[in-house]
Amino acid sequence: MEKPHSDALVFFGVTGDLAYKQIFPALQALARRGELEMPVIGVARSDWSPEQFRERVRDSLEKHGGVDEEAFKKLSARLQFLSGNYADDDTYRRLRELLGASKHPLHYLAIPPSTFELVAQGLAKSGCGDGARIIVEKPFGRDLESAQSLNLTLHKFFAEDAIFRMDHYLGKEAVENLHYFRFANTFVEPVWNSNYIASVQITMAEQFGVQGRGAFYEEVGALRDVVQNHLLQVLALLTMEPPQGSDVDSMRDEKLRVLEAMRPLSPAELVRGQFEGYRDEEGVAPGSVVETFAALRLHIDNERWKGVPFYIRAGKQLPVTGTEVLVRLKQPAHPVFSADRSCCENHFRFRLSPDVMIAIGARTKLPGQSMVGEATELVAQRHAHEEMTPYERLLGDAMHGDTALFTRGDTVEAAWRIVDPVLGNAAPALPYAPNTWGPAAASDIIAGDGGWNELSIEGKKDDPK
Ligand code: BG6
Repeated sequence: MEKPHSDALVFFGVTGDLAYKQIFPALQALARRGELEMPVIGVARSDWSPEQFRERVRDSLEKHGGVDEEAFKKLSARLQFLSGNYADDDTYRRLRELLGASKHPLHYLAIPPSTFELVAQGLAKSGCGDGARIIVEKPFGRDLESAQSLNLTLHKFFAEDAIFRMDHYLGKEAVENLHYFRFANTFVEPVWNSNYIASVQITMAEQFGVQGRGAFYEEVGALRDVVQNHLLQVLALLTMEPPQGSDVDSMRDEKLRVLEAMRPLSPAELVRGQFEGYRDEEGVAPGSVVETFAALRLHIDNERWKGVPFYIRAGKQLPVTGTEVLVRLKQPAHPVFSADRSCCENHFRFRLSPDVMIAIGARTKLPGQSMVGEATELVAQRHAHEEMTPYERLLGDAMHGDTALFTRGDTVEAAWRIVDPVLGNAAPALPYAPNTWGPAAASDIIAGDGGWNELSIEGKKDDPK
């Protein structure tokens, strides 16, 4: 059955950072493509006038991607602002009035998770939740228990296929391509297992710090901010079994299965770090032990991945900004070219940002009499940036009711189960100097597996966002 298109967008937390940096530019892009033929209602506690709201949107666009006057005109004609307290029934009554004839509003909750229940309940009681969809931002809860309780709460008011748990990494073209590349190429599957793969590592490096989001970051740290969600999703796409069908749930079922096979993390296989200067950031406690860096080793207890180590490293104030996956293959069993010392490592390299790249590491012989070669890369794909921003893509999908690129409730819980044992102060937060690759101990974790992949990206000091 064709799913109805959303006919209004309601954005809770519209005065916040996410709206300013990501959502307004995405809305302008949707308006440009003619995909925003609906009212856009911003809700927040602040008492803004409609002009102030429009000014804020224009200002956001000027700083993030530029104003397209024609699209901006279309967008501003749709904007409305509702000032209200989330605990007050009257806020939802006025929202229902503003929604007018809308039958399928899309409610976007970019607000603290502690207020989700209040808002979901307010929407349901006032009728604003009828026929509606709801988007909730990450992190979804703060640990397994709170994620379970959040799922229970949301399910009281919304069916699973009306809940869109946002993880913007899933809206990245390069992340979708991991799935495509694996299952669209005959040559990949035969080697994609412990017979041929020696190790897999994912690095998400950011050259910038917490950028004024100190208070938010104090509540999360690197594990909750990017590992539990973005990076475990990437790992699931790299390691799951082929989906049985092409429908949304076949894929989500396989993701769930592989996440369930991942062993919960152990403090002995985790290095936490904190960049020097973090404690001086606004909103950060002077004695904070929150991690701005994490490096960890994971294991997947199933037939395909028995004995293969998986590594994840993520941090702020590192030497470059970029995210890359490196899949190292084992050496040939019989060393034919024993004189060629560095022979014969092959790999797959997937760069997810800032540019997009898929490359296969191979060796070729150097001209000359001896059988000595050099490492080379066959580049399968390379482009400078994504066509659409993840938020543009995912907002459009949610409006169509397409849940494929959103995380299902059970999958989010499975991911929390993996990180749960190492949340909090499970390992000391070791200091590291800005512009380095984190605490020295991070190298020990991967020492036997060829070391970390040092991303060769020309770093820019500015946050790309
Ligand atoms: C967000 C995190 O989810 O992802 C940020 O909260 C992080 O801390 C950001 O910087 C990275 O996303 P991207 O798409 O800019 O690499």
